[in-house]
Amino acid sequence: MKFVRFIMKNAALANVPKHIEHFSKFSPSPISMKQFIDFGSSNACEKTSFVFLRQELPVRLSNIMKEINLLPDRLLTTPSVQMVQSWYIQSLVDILEFLEKSPDDHSVLAEFVTTLMNIRNRHNDVVPTMAQGVLEYKEAFGQDPITNQNIQYFLDRLYMSRISIRMLINQHTLVFDGEMKPVDPSAIGSIDPHCSVTEVVRDSYENAKALCEQYYVISPDLVLKELNTKNRMESINMVYVPSHLYHMLFELFKNAMRATIENHKNSTLPPVEVMVAIGGEDLSIKVSDRGGGVPFRKMEKLFSYMYSTAPAPQFGPYDRPPLAGFGYGLPISRLYAQYFQGDLQLYSMEGYGTDAIIHLKALSTDSVERLPVYNKTAKRNYKVSQMADDWCVPTREPLDLAVFRLAK
Ligand SMILES: Nc1ncnc2c1ncn2[C@@H]1O[C@H](COP(=O)(O)OP(=O)(O)OP(=O)(O)O)[C@@H](O)[C@H]1O
Ligand SMILES: [Mg+2]
Repeated sequence: MKFVRFIMKNAALANVPKHIEHFSKFSPSPISMKQFIDFGSSNACEKTSFVFLRQELPVRLSNIMKEINLLPDRLLTTPSVQMVQSWYIQSLVDILEFLEKSPDDHSVLAEFVTTLMNIRNRHNDVVPTMAQGVLEYKEAFGQDPITNQNIQYFLDRLYMSRISIRMLINQHTLVFDGEMKPVDPSAIGSIDPHCSVTEVVRDSYENAKALCEQYYVISPDLVLKELNTKNRMESINMVYVPSHLYHMLFELFKNAMRATIENHKNSTLPPVEVMVAIGGEDLSIKVSDRGGGVPFRKMEKLFSYMYSTAPAPQFGPYDRPPLAGFGYGLPISRLYAQYFQGDLQLYSMEGYGTDAIIHLKALSTDSVERLPVYNKTAKRNYKVSQMADDWCVPTREPLDLAVFRLAK
């Protein structure tokens, strides 16, 4: 029996490249917030969701697996990236087993939920493991602008794809696993149709404050304001995934608190101010600190996976790689904002402080998944070559204008 299973497993693995080729020819299908809600509401149909996911998950996995293969060889062959690649292969094989199974069989549906949960757990450490691969690469080969650009482009897409796959898995498992009852009865899977933004702001502030006090003993206060132009008497609500909003705000608060304390060693701490506003199109959240800001020249680097002001974390081969300090707080938070067509931007005044603004879609009809697709344009983006700059590079030495003086 064991031998038969071994043969079957190897046969499944041998067919993987063929399946990746097949499924990567389809474009992922972005789901809107409204569709997520319909999928999970009282008339939800587990069979429909099952039939959709057994096609859509292989499509999303295969699209990004094609891109993993386009990474520079020296990065692709690091043990960390090889490990991540093997997780993707295994998860694809796991789902493909359901292609021929009947959606009318209850045990198939139950087995599918368990398989999805296993896949979610298998991929828990993708971000720190990739971070370790990038670190290994950086230590061995240093940095160059082309590789930096490739890695940035790839990781943004890998992590966005991962956020979307986890969203699909979470919705299916939360809605159709009969045993788990949501804490909030109005929640639809991980979506709260009446997510109170200020509640999430307060919650994430309190947790960042507790963490901050563990390190620094003190923490800045919070000043929170909101402006609901639609209805001034009502608090701002939206259809959103509270855990995504929490993730972004928690990261912004940690950064704002660290900067504030580091910049006010001998004076009273100015508060972190948050403004929440909603208009016809946007719901924006601004987190402002007076932490001394960041030089304009460095702004773009703050979202880079290859750059962090924190020292590289040390870990042995058996330790779980830590995420904190990898400098991934901002880039991953920006992906969460962009996932439903929003964005996260930083404006800083060096010497004073920083405003971080999360822009989200106010209307759930505008909130549609933003997904990477593997196509010719994507392929071309991995082939960028270093071209000569078409702007002059100023020399360090000031020009000696005396040379140009007309002879008398
Ligand atoms: N509000 C801020 N004020 C001043 N500098 C900031 C602020 N927010 C971010 N930065 C700078 O940007 C860098 C990157 O921030 P990011 O949150 O991505 O990573 P990190 O805080 O270094 O590590 P991690 O968040 O992964 O623990 C920080 O190290 C810090 O130098
Ligand atoms: Mg941070």
